[in-house]
Amino acid sequence: MQICRSTQAMRDWRKDAGQVVLVPTMGALHAGHLSLVAHARDWLDRNGGGRIVTSIFVNPTQFGPTEDLDKYPRDEEGDLALLRGAGCDSVFLPQVADIYRPGAQTHVEVAHLGGILMGQLRPGHFRGVATVVTKLFNIVQPQAAAFGEKDYQQLALIRQMVADLDIPVQILPVPTMREADGLAMSSRNQRLSPQDRAAATVLSQALDQAQAMIAAGAGLQAVHDALQARLASQPRARTQSIDIRDAADLSQPDAILRPVVILLAVRFGDVLLIDQRVAHP
Ligand code: PAJ
Repeated sequence: MQICRSTQAMRDWRKDAGQVVLVPTMGALHAGHLSLVAHARDWLDRNGGGRIVTSIFVNPTQFGPTEDLDKYPRDEEGDLALLRGAGCDSVFLPQVADIYRPGAQTHVEVAHLGGILMGQLRPGHFRGVATVVTKLFNIVQPQAAAFGEKDYQQLALIRQMVADLDIPVQILPVPTMREADGLAMSSRNQRLSPQDRAAATVLSQALDQAQAMIAAGAGLQAVHDALQARLASQPRARTQSIDIRDAADLSQPDAILRPVVILLAVRFGDVLLIDQRVAHP
């Protein structure tokens, strides 16, 4: 597995790499990230073969001033061992100074999708994401790139950006990998206390219940109320937001007539967990 620690090293490797799928990450890898690598391999197998590049870059511009960039978990050795085991061909591990050079003036902002929902909770976050993903696309020049449905708004935003800017990269959506008890895998889970870790199963349980209600024909308000009550029944959970949006464009529906995505953001201690589920009426 090739390790590229600079933009130039990555560009040099890429020249002879043929078809490439990129898996962008911030490291602290877990089985959810590895399932992106597995999906990348599937796509290559169905599309004439090629190589997988995983990027590991804790992107400072997507962290707000009050969010602890320094506390983001880092484990380069562990990450590289997991990627070797998963059959990744190359890892891009740039330095911050290599990605953000002094005097830069350009960023990418997805006007509407970047400002709603998590964009309201985390101002500037999606501008950082859109900018760094554009830069990664330009450096690695992949034919396709894999993104998790867990970060549903991020996936929608990247799809919008790629369409708006005619970026020739196919976006591969990957279903959320979960622990045995339903908790969506996340590098943040390791920061939960044992009690909060146990309590956090309430997210996927609430989503299960809401999905069943929607399948049975329940209306928006009833589903919203049920989600709120279910989350409130767990005293350790502090609900930040409950949103039921059109699954295609994240607009606010008047009624559940088409597939919707349920988006939850819930705090346990100082750890903010998110989860999502697409539900069909
Ligand atoms: P990060 O949080 O490291 O996530 C990298 C990718 O893994 C994202 O596409 C995310 O949706 C996916 N992922 C995380 N947990 C998952 C799970 N349980 N199942 C499936 N996929 C999962 O998202 C980012 O990094 C950054 O914003 C990034 C896109 C790299 C830009 O900096």
